[in-house]
Amino acid sequence: MAENKKLRTPIVCVMGHVDHGKTSLLDKIRGTAVVAGEAGAITQHIGATEVPIDIIVNKCGQPQLINKFIVPGLLFIDTPGHHAFTSLRSRGGALADLAIVIVDINEGFMPQTIESLQILKRFKTPFVVAANKIDRIPGWRTNPEKPFAESFKNQSENVQQLIDTRIYELVGELYKLGFNSERYDRVTDFQKNVGIVPISAATGEGVADILMILLGLAQKFLESNLRFDANNPGTGTVLEIKEEKGLGTTIDVILYDGTLKKGDTIVVGSLGNPIITKVRALLKPRPLTEIQTEEKFKSVNEVTAAIGVKIAAPSLEKALAGTAVRVAGSDNADEIAKEIKTELEQVTLPTGSTGVAIKADTIGSLEALVNELTKEEIPIRKAGVGDISHRDIVEVAAIEDPYYSVIIGFNVSMLPDAREKIQSSEIKVFMGNIIYRLIDDYKDWVKKQKE
Ligand code: GTP
Ligand code: MG
Repeated sequence: MAENKKLRTPIVCVMGHVDHGKTSLLDKIRGTAVVAGEAGAITQHIGATEVPIDIIVNKCGQPQLINKFIVPGLLFIDTPGHHAFTSLRSRGGALADLAIVIVDINEGFMPQTIESLQILKRFKTPFVVAANKIDRIPGWRTNPEKPFAESFKNQSENVQQLIDTRIYELVGELYKLGFNSERYDRVTDFQKNVGIVPISAATGEGVADILMILLGLAQKFLESNLRFDANNPGTGTVLEIKEEKGLGTTIDVILYDGTLKKGDTIVVGSLGNPIITKVRALLKPRPLTEIQTEEKFKSVNEVTAAIGVKIAAPSLEKALAGTAVRVAGSDNADEIAKEIKTELEQVTLPTGSTGVAIKADTIGSLEALVNELTKEEIPIRKAGVGDISHRDIVEVAAIEDPYYSVIIGFNVSMLPDAREKIQSSEIKVFMGNIIYRLIDDYKDWVKKQKE
């Protein structure tokens, strides 16, 4: 179906605080019971679920809209809400064209709700807020699978008032974070206002409204981002590296541009030099299945964006989650490898024009270090993955402020030529494998310098 459509499938990231109902909402959309089978309550892995457009418009009770929308469907990525999974959330947020932020209407904003919104703000990702668990509001009369407006009409005045009070609390919280918002049916311009949709992932009320808004946002604001050429070389992001029985090390990838074929040469980000390898197998989830449930994979010869796909290939052991995967032609693999390496050395994190330089061994640990330094209000000028290099020393040596003529390295070592260079410079290097200790060491040093 996708071939003759003009746009690729938008990637929708589902984010929010632990237990606020992300997996349940996807589950409802899918009509399966992943939640019931989940080990513990925490989603440990990012999954991807493709929902074709015909299923969405039917679910919304508006099959006639099939011709109105030019996106082929929506590709949902679930993310875990537990605080330990910051890097999975920001990886999902960075990838996503759109997002759903789920908040339990009875609990309101919680730490990971705020963190999710900050990630979306950083990447300027359009999103909708799902105010979930309306069925738990005392006195709520359930109308399974109905649009919110219809269900709302059937509620008592008390319940209606309570819903509006709760929504205004959310509007206030969103405003504090710099977003204007309104209940979605009162929003006239979704570019200026975030829509809040009261839903129940348990009863399905309001779920159709969420899907319609996502389709509308995709159509209105993302057309140019989503226009793509299937003939482009495939480009994607590694979500996870996984050992699979009979396949060896595989990577779960979200492909967001072009086409990827069995036998293609691919370049994959890694610590050190990127991996250049050949695709041995492409394993695709069928529509309406979850990427983690292996037995539902089928081997395919090619896939086209946007899609979640598992790649089996030799030498993937050192692949790095969060990095790029790109298809190479007959003679440009080395060039692509160089580009991916440069991107990795300059990870886009919230850095400023002044501050310390930091290096870490993985994107995840780099993010963790950035978070901790930010909490301590220590500014960061540059953040990168990999060992401390000669170039790092040269750059830092040029910084005039003595408190920022500093490199903090987490779980990395110093390359020999950097070690040589450092002897002839004034810069201070802090290295170690415990984040808070590195930060304490730096703070103590600054204090001593100031005395
Ligand atoms: P993490 O992945 O751990 O961050 O949680 P999550 O956001 O995916 O939440 P999940 O979907 O696992 O739901 C948590 C609990 O809330 C489960 O017991 C769900 O059954 C319940 N739940 C989710 N949505 C609703 C809802 O709309 N109404 C009611 N009554 N319960 C819900
Ligand atoms: Mg979950």
